[in-house]
Amino acid sequence: MHQDVETMRWEGDRLWLLDQTRLPHVWEGVSCRTADEVATAIRDMVVRGAPAIGVSAAFGMALAAQAAAGQPRAEALAQLAAAGQRLCHARPTAVNLAWGVARMQAIAEATPGEGADLAAALVRGAEAMLAEDVRINRAIGQHGLAVMPDGAQVLTHCNAGALATAGYGTALGVLRAAHAAGRSLHVWVDETRPFWQGARLTAWELVQAGISATLITDSMAGHFMARGQIDRVVVGADRIAANGDTANKIGTYGVAVLAAHHGLPFYVAAPLSTVDAGLAHGGLIPIEERPAEELTHVQGRRVAAEGVRVANPGFDVTPAALISGIITEAGVLLPPFETSIPAALRSGAGKA
Ligand code: MRU
Repeated sequence: MHQDVETMRWEGDRLWLLDQTRLPHVWEGVSCRTADEVATAIRDMVVRGAPAIGVSAAFGMALAAQAAAGQPRAEALAQLAAAGQRLCHARPTAVNLAWGVARMQAIAEATPGEGADLAAALVRGAEAMLAEDVRINRAIGQHGLAVMPDGAQVLTHCNAGALATAGYGTALGVLRAAHAAGRSLHVWVDETRPFWQGARLTAWELVQAGISATLITDSMAGHFMARGQIDRVVVGADRIAANGDTANKIGTYGVAVLAAHHGLPFYVAAPLSTVDAGLAHGGLIPIEERPAEELTHVQGRRVAAEGVRVANPGFDVTPAALISGIITEAGVLLPPFETSIPAALRSGAGKA
C-alpha cells in the first residue's frame, strides 16, 4: 500500500522534513532542531499543506519542550506558550497549525511533573498526531468512495496529497482509495499558479500511484468542463468556517464557480481538525499574502515588467453554497453545513 513518500520523520531530538520547495527534481530533507527552525520551515513552505503543518507544529512544540526539559514546570509551560505563539504566526490561513499547537499545550497542562515529564509527554503526543493523521486520511478516502464512481473524471486543485499531510492525503486520499477499490478514474490536475503545487507535487504523486492524470493550466478547467471531460471536483481545505465556507489554495473559488455553472458536484475533503467552529463565516478567515516574487519571477528570472504592483493572496474562500459535500473522517457532510458540521464534531470522530 502507499507509503512511498515520507513528508516528515521524528528522529528523537529533531524533526526531519522533506524539502517541498525543491520537488520534484531534488529529494532532500531539512533537519529542524528547534521550534523556531520548524516555524521557519513552515513559513518558507519547506513543509506545506494544512494537516502537514499542523503535525509539524506539534513536533515544534515537542522540540520546545525538550529545550525546556531541565526547567521547573512553570518555566517550561511559559517557554511552551512562547514557542506556540511563534509557530502560530508562521502562516495564518490553515487552522490546523493553531490546532496542533493548542493540542500540545493541552497535553502539557494535563501532564503532571516538571519540564522533563512535559517533554516526554509532548513527544508522545506529536507522534500520536502523526499516526492519527494517516488513519484519518484513510478514513476520508473510504468515505469518499461514495462520491467517486467508476469512470469518474475528476479535477483537483493544488496538492492535498501525501505531501500535504502525514501520509496518504485528503483529496488525493479519496482518489487513492477509489483507485485501490478498482475504480477506473481520470484526474485533471490544475498546475496551481503561482507555486505550482499541482504541477510539481500532485502530478508526481498521481504518476507514482499509477493513477491516470492530465496536467492543465488553471485557466483550462472551464474548457474541459464545457466539453464534458470533467464531471466532478475534489479539493482539500485550509480552514472551514462554521457555515461551511471553505478557504483553500487561491483559484479554488474560481473552480467552484465553474463547477456550479456546469452543474458539476464540488467536494471538499478534509479532516475535522480543519473546521474552525469559532468562525461564523468565511469572510472572517485570515488570508495569507505571499511574496510578490512568486508572480514577478519564474525560476529566478523576472518575467513581469518592473514597477508593476502585485497582489498575491495564497488562498481564497469558496462559499458553502457552491460545495456539494465535505468528505471527512466522520462521513460525507451534506448541506446545510450549519447542521451537519456540528453533528460531525459531536460524533467525536478525529479525536485521539
Ligand atoms: O500553500 P499550501 O501549499 O500550503 O496550500 C495547500 C492547500 O491549499 C491544500 O489544498 C490544503 O492545505 C489541504 S492539504 C491536505
